[in-house]
Amino acid sequence: MGETSFTPRVFSGIQPSGNLTLGNYLGAVKRFVEMQNSGIETIYCMVDLHAITVWQDPDTLRHNTRELAAAYIACGLDPKKSILFNQSQVPAHAELGWLFNCVARLGWMNRMTQFKDKAGKNAEKMSLGLYAYPSLMAADILIYHATHVPVGEDQKQHVELTRDIAAKFNHDFKTDFFPEPEPIIDGAATRVMSLRDGSKKMSKSDPSDMSRINMTDDADTIAKKIRKAKTDPEALPDNLDDLKDRPEARNLVNIRAALTGQTPEQVIAEVAGQQFGTFKPDLVEIAVSHLAPITDEMNRLMADVGEIDRVLGDGANRAAEIAEPILAKTYDIAGMIRSR
Ligand code: TYM
Repeated sequence: MGETSFTPRVFSGIQPSGNLTLGNYLGAVKRFVEMQNSGIETIYCMVDLHAITVWQDPDTLRHNTRELAAAYIACGLDPKKSILFNQSQVPAHAELGWLFNCVARLGWMNRMTQFKDKAGKNAEKMSLGLYAYPSLMAADILIYHATHVPVGEDQKQHVELTRDIAAKFNHDFKTDFFPEPEPIIDGAATRVMSLRDGSKKMSKSDPSDMSRINMTDDADTIAKKIRKAKTDPEALPDNLDDLKDRPEARNLVNIRAALTGQTPEQVIAEVAGQQFGTFKPDLVEIAVSHLAPITDEMNRLMADVGEIDRVLGDGANRAAEIAEPILAKTYDIAGMIRSR
């Protein structure tokens, strides 16, 4: 990780919008666990205020927030080592988000590809929150003075915008109060692709459930989805370069690498010459043996939502202890009177 004068601190978040996918797991949660276990201070959030930028049924949102918390813990995040909480329980996120709405420029927001992808031709009908979303995301990170942000490739632009917001705030108020955090995007699975179309990202919102593996899928469903994953009739080559025009094959090699902790180069050396008729059953076995214990543990944890809520409440208290002084100082820098 790069040098900075701020104490290293990791922040990241995931939207509790249901269907946590293998992409979220390999691109984000698995990396969160590695960073937690490296001993650095880690703060991980269920970003419910982001989820409501598109319509969420209240009961479903409550369920999905708890399920995401269960997934975090089942994947190896330890509430004693990491701060785990849902965003709306720490109001400082929304408050700093407002200040940043007044720092970020419309032109910056207009360049955000995620908004364009989500809004499509319907931009006029989207919520104002969806448009301002990256500014709240900057607040999530900077309210903790986080220095490192583990994310998948699709969030890189948002973390870069966070750096721009920090820099503009510091410049406008002649201060060096906010760090410019670094996105941490590495490993074999920074962009897991759809199982049905190697040119599209694996996504929780894809209309086809066959396009993704969900963390709640049972072994039979995982097996069916991998068996039916789109591939081509060629055997696997002995060189990754030869997969450059075979995105579906490359995606499965990357998934296997990320699950086994190998590099894609090591995987291709192992599977060179295999047909998918051999490769796929092996991948099913690897995926099921890795994911089944996580799913079982999620189900066990979901049987006691009281305990999950207690973990989130405790995490929110600890998060607020860090966030509140940073918010107070930010208000002060911006000229807001704080006389209570
Ligand atoms: P979200 O909820 O869409 O995704 C959560 C994390 O999963 C990663 N990811 C993927 N990685 C690899 N392959 C994929 N197919 C794939 N799909 C998703 C995402 O890159 C992300 O790391 N804006 C964020 C949530 C957020 C946040 C933050 C993140 C809000 N505030 C502050 C970091 C810091 C989002 O929508 O992620």
